[in-house]
This record gives sequence, C-alpha cells and structure tokens, in this order.
Amino acid sequence: MTTTLLRGRTLSFLRWPETIDDHAAYRYEEDGGLLLRDGKIVAAGAYAEVAKQAGEGVKVIDHRPHLLLPGFIDAHMHFPQMQILASYGAELLEWLNTYTFPEETKFENAQHGRRIARLFLDEVIRHGTTTVAAYCSVHKSSADAFFAESHGRNMLNIAGKVMMDRNAPDGVTDTPQSSYDDTKALVGEWHGKGRQHYAITPRFAITSTPEQMGMAGALAREFPDLHIQTHLSENHAEIAFTQELYPWSKDYTDVYEHYGLMGPKTLLGHCIHLSEREADALSATGSIAVFCPTSNLFLGSGLFPYQRLRSRRNPVRIAAATDVGGGTNYSMLRTMDEGYKVIALQGEKLTPFQSFWQLTRGNAEALSIADKVGTLEVGTDADIIVLDAGATPVTRLRMETVRTLAEELFLLQTVGDDRAVREVYIAGNPAKSELAA
Ligand code: GUN
Ligand code: ZN
Repeated sequence: MTTTLLRGRTLSFLRWPETIDDHAAYRYEEDGGLLLRDGKIVAAGAYAEVAKQAGEGVKVIDHRPHLLLPGFIDAHMHFPQMQILASYGAELLEWLNTYTFPEETKFENAQHGRRIARLFLDEVIRHGTTTVAAYCSVHKSSADAFFAESHGRNMLNIAGKVMMDRNAPDGVTDTPQSSYDDTKALVGEWHGKGRQHYAITPRFAITSTPEQMGMAGALAREFPDLHIQTHLSENHAEIAFTQELYPWSKDYTDVYEHYGLMGPKTLLGHCIHLSEREADALSATGSIAVFCPTSNLFLGSGLFPYQRLRSRRNPVRIAAATDVGGGTNYSMLRTMDEGYKVIALQGEKLTPFQSFWQLTRGNAEALSIADKVGTLEVGTDADIIVLDAGATPVTRLRMETVRTLAEELFLLQTVGDDRAVREVYIAGNPAKSELAA
C-alpha cells in the first residue's frame, strides 16, 4: 500500500463557473492537502486537516507555492500524426491526402506503432494531460500498441482503431467485415482492462462506405457502453463531398443519425458549421461537440461557435481538444489560449475559470468519466498535475504583478506550456519526472 501526501494550492471545480466572480463553482485551498493511497485520492482539503488524517510517518511532497489541479483531459488526438505536426499549406481534404494518409500507412509496421505510441504518451504527460481520447491508425496493431503503452503506464485513456474503407490509399483501408472483426477483437482484449476504454472509431463519413457505416452502427448496438468518435462539419469542401456521397441525407449530421451513431458517448470532432437542425440533433441525443481551436485555425477550417452552442435553448455538450497533428500543440494551455481568441473573434469571452473547468471537470463530464477523473474529489483516481505560473523569465516577471487566482490562471493559459507543468501524477505515481529528458 503506497500512501503519499501532496501539499500545495489545490483547485478543483464543482460546476460550470457562470462568471469570473462565481467563486462557489470551485474549491480552492491556499494551503491544501491531497492524501493519495493505491492510486486514489482518499482525503482532500486544508493541509492541516488532511495531515491529521494521514497520521505519522506518511511521505509528504511539498509543492508549495505551486497549484495542484486534476490532470488535463484531451478529448481528440491522433497518435499516428506526431510526425506530420506543422505540415504546410493545405486545408483539410488536401492535408489528409498529402500528409496524413501517407503518414498513417507507416503504421502497417507494428514496431513503428509501438515506438510512436511510447513517444506520444511521453509528450501527453510532459504537457500535463493525463487522459486522452485518441484515434489510432486503421491497423489493428497500432491500437494494440497504444493500449499496451497506456496500460503499462496505468493511464485512463480512450482509443480506437479507425475504420476506413474508401477515399484513401490501399495502405490505410480495411473492409466493412475486417473493421468489424478487428474492433470486436480489440474491445475484447482492451476495453475494461485496467483503465483502458475502447472507442468505436469510424474516421468520418467520407472514408466509410454505407456498408461500413452500418457495421459501425452494429458495433454501437452490440456494445452500447462504448464511446464512439468521429469527425463532423469541419470544412466546407468536406461537407459538400459528404452530401455527394450520401445524397439522401438531410445534412452531414443526419448521416451519423441514420447509422445509429449519435448519443451521450459520441464525440464529434470540430462541429464548426452546424445548422440549427444539426445542433438540435446533437442536443437531443446528448452527443458532444469537440472544440479543437489550434487545428481549426491551422487548417483554416473556421471558428467554433462555443458560446452559441453552449447558451442556446437546447445546449450542446462541449469538450476541448488539441487534435494533434491537425492541431499544432500538445498543450491544453496553448489550446485554450487559441480557444479564447477564437471565441473573442466572435465577440464573446471565456473566463479563466471557465477554461480551466473545461480542461478538467468539463472534459471529464463530456467524456462521462467525471466519477473517475477531472476533479480532486475523494474517491476519484489520483491523476494530478502541478502547475507553476512563473516557470519562465517572462512569466516570473509577470507574476510580480498578478494579484488574483483568475489572473494567475489566465497567465498560465495565455503564455504557459509544458514548462509550466512541474510534475504529473498518474494514479498517484510521479510520471513527468520519470520521463527521459
Ligand atoms: N477528418 C477526418 N480525419 C481527420 C483527421 O485526421 N484530422 C482532422 N483534423 N480532421 C479529420
Ligand atoms: Zn481529428
């Protein structure tokens, strides 16, 4: 039994913070304590109280004056795209054909998949993210590699092999039957093993035949507790091509509705250009729109209507994500910095508390895992990060004039990156300091 007592400035959200002054939305302890035992948080609160509960002889790690937060959650990433990060000059469909699909053919080689899975989770951890929803390549071995690496680190991750059987090169296509068989085998092997969760992953409507979409729907009916992840309404040419391929559909969202793929565990990447009818369909089914600001700016896809989707009569559930490698940074801090600007360009604001809620409890709720991660509540898994808002000369100097927690969080978000992440605990064990430099 391993027991550790962390000391620092603890911050955890209770609900969506309505305004910048909504202090009842979070719990903050200037001198806080978190008692970790066997991978869980077993006591949390003022340090003096928690220390009393911990008793004599427990190992104390003092992170003062830094912040202790739940680990960040990234709701949409592509692990096989590490080596196409920052590929120049294309919008979505050209970017997929020129860079992405050729890159993903390399994952035919299982050894390559294992190497990239290892390096990928190293970067995720280095940037303070403790849970991701990840797309693997079409190759079953890439998903095996991802889950083996994730399980070996005892991380709570969600992933699936992409299903894609058309409009892509031979090296990255499967068939309706093989995608069904491979998915089922992967679910059997990995879903529920330790902290691993399988996501049924039809890449998007363009790269699946109607037969394969039907197979994805069959898997969803057979395994109703699984996540489903795909892409929706990212780019105008993508939307037009989808309409050509599914001429009977009312709109893009209707394709996923038709095949039974919408629901409270469905993660829909991008959702930039949704009609009111489509937004209603997401709302009615509880499906989640995933905001990927660095990707949406980089690929010139458009401005995600965050506040419009959130505050409409039928609100849409929202998660935030990097979308590496269409996204340009592994850091959820960099992501919310760009997110703030995307929202500002639409004449709206996202407060620092709303941002940090989104990165932690908000994303956990969107992924239906808030009973396990995303807060510092007793009984949840001890995935915790240590943040230093003054980790660089620029931010250290700026910190001299920071007076409030809101200002500190906004500085972290606006300028911070992996250097602000001092330590990462995965299920109670230090993980960032264990990485090779
Ligand atoms: N749509 C289908 N596949 C992808 C992908 O890999 N990245 C992005 N950004 N959009 C997609
Ligand atoms: Zn994506």
